[in-house]
Amino acid sequence: MIGGHGGNIYQLAQQLECRPSEISDMSANVNPLGPMPALIEHLKGGISSAIAALPEVDAGGIVDAFSRFYGIDPRQVMAGNGTTELIYLIPRALGVKKALVVGPTYSDYRDACAMNRVACDHLICREQDDFVPDMQAIRKEAATADLVFLCNPNNPTGALVNRPHIEALCRSLPGTVFVIDESYLPFAPVPADATMIGSDLPNVMVLNSMSKAFRIPGLRIGFVKAPEPLMQPLAPFALPWSVNSLAQAAVQWLMDHPEQVEPFLSSTRHMIETEKGRIEEYIHQKTEARCFPSATSFILIRLPDGLNAPTVWRQMADNRILIRDCSNFSGLSGAFIRISLKTEAENRRATDLLVRLFRTPAGEEGRHAG
Ligand SMILES: Cc1ncc(COP(=O)(O)O)c(C=O)c1O
Repeated sequence: MIGGHGGNIYQLAQQLECRPSEISDMSANVNPLGPMPALIEHLKGGISSAIAALPEVDAGGIVDAFSRFYGIDPRQVMAGNGTTELIYLIPRALGVKKALVVGPTYSDYRDACAMNRVACDHLICREQDDFVPDMQAIRKEAATADLVFLCNPNNPTGALVNRPHIEALCRSLPGTVFVIDESYLPFAPVPADATMIGSDLPNVMVLNSMSKAFRIPGLRIGFVKAPEPLMQPLAPFALPWSVNSLAQAAVQWLMDHPEQVEPFLSSTRHMIETEKGRIEEYIHQKTEARCFPSATSFILIRLPDGLNAPTVWRQMADNRILIRDCSNFSGLSGAFIRISLKTEAENRRATDLLVRLFRTPAGEEGRHAG
C-alpha cells in the first residue's frame, strides 16, 4: 500500500519551493556511495536499444546471472519489480491464512497481509533489548502462523540476527514458512555471517533487493530465492515484463562485474562503519538522545524526553533535510526518528542540526507545547 512509507521528497520539494535534488534525503535507505559510475555509463551506452524493445518476459537472463553470482540453482530464483512485488505476492500465492510479523518493522509486510486478507499478528521486540529479536518468543508465537516475516537487518531498528539463530528457529518450526528480508544485509559488517541465501532449509524464502545496496531504487528490481516447492506456487502469479529493460541491463552488468562490485560494497561498508561510529559518539556525548546499535546504513534514535518526531522532522525539513519520523511504525511512537547515512558532509550538517535541536531547553522550539 502507498501510505505506510516515510518521507516524500517530491512533496517536500514542492512545499519548500526547491528541487528534490536540493534536499538531503536521509529518509531513504540507499547506498551513500551509489550508484556506481561505471554502471551509469553502461546504462547510458545501451539506453536507446534498451527502451526501444520489450525486456525479456520472465527476466530469465538476470535470474541466471543472479544465481551464478550466488552459486544457487536458478530454479530457486524469481525476479520481481522490486522486492515489493514479491512481498505482496508471497502471502497470496502461498495461500497463507495467518502471518506473524517481527517488529517494529517495515510496514509492507503487514500491508501485504491486509491486501491479501491474511490475518497478521505483530511480535514487537523489546526496546530494552535494543530491539534484537527474542528467538524463543518468536518460536512460541510463530507456532500458530503459516508464515513469518523477519527483516534482517531490520528496518528501522538496524538489529541483526546471525545465521545460526535463524537456522535454529526455522528448523524448530518446519511447518511454518520464514520470509527473511535481506534488503539491508549488504551494509552489515560481515554479510556472510547472517545471509540465508545459501540455505537449503525447505521452509526458508530469502528476499534480496538491488535498490538499497546499489542505489537503483528507481529501476525497481529484487529477487526471491526459495526451494522449488515454495517457488512453484509463485510461478502462476508472475506478471509478464514486470522487470523493465534498464533494470535487467543493470543487474546483468552488476552480476557480470564482481571485480568492481565487491570493492564497491566493501568501501561502502567501511564508510558506513566509520560514519556510524562518529555520529553515534557525537550524539551520545552531546545529548540525551539514544542511538540504537545498527548493523546497517541507518540509525534509529530515541529522542530526548519532551521532544517529538513530527516537530524534529519539521525543523529538519525546514533546513532541507528529510529524516524519517517513525511515529507510524507499529511498535514505535513519536519518540523515534531514523536517519539514513549520506556523505560525510551531509551527515555532519544533519547531526550538528540534530544536536542543536536535542539540546534546545524545554519549552523552546522543538519541544512539545505544554
Ligand atoms: C525492509 C525493506 N524491504 C523491502 C523494501 C522494498 O524495496 P524494493 O522494492 O525497492 O526492493 C524496502 C523499501 O524501503 C524495505 O525497507
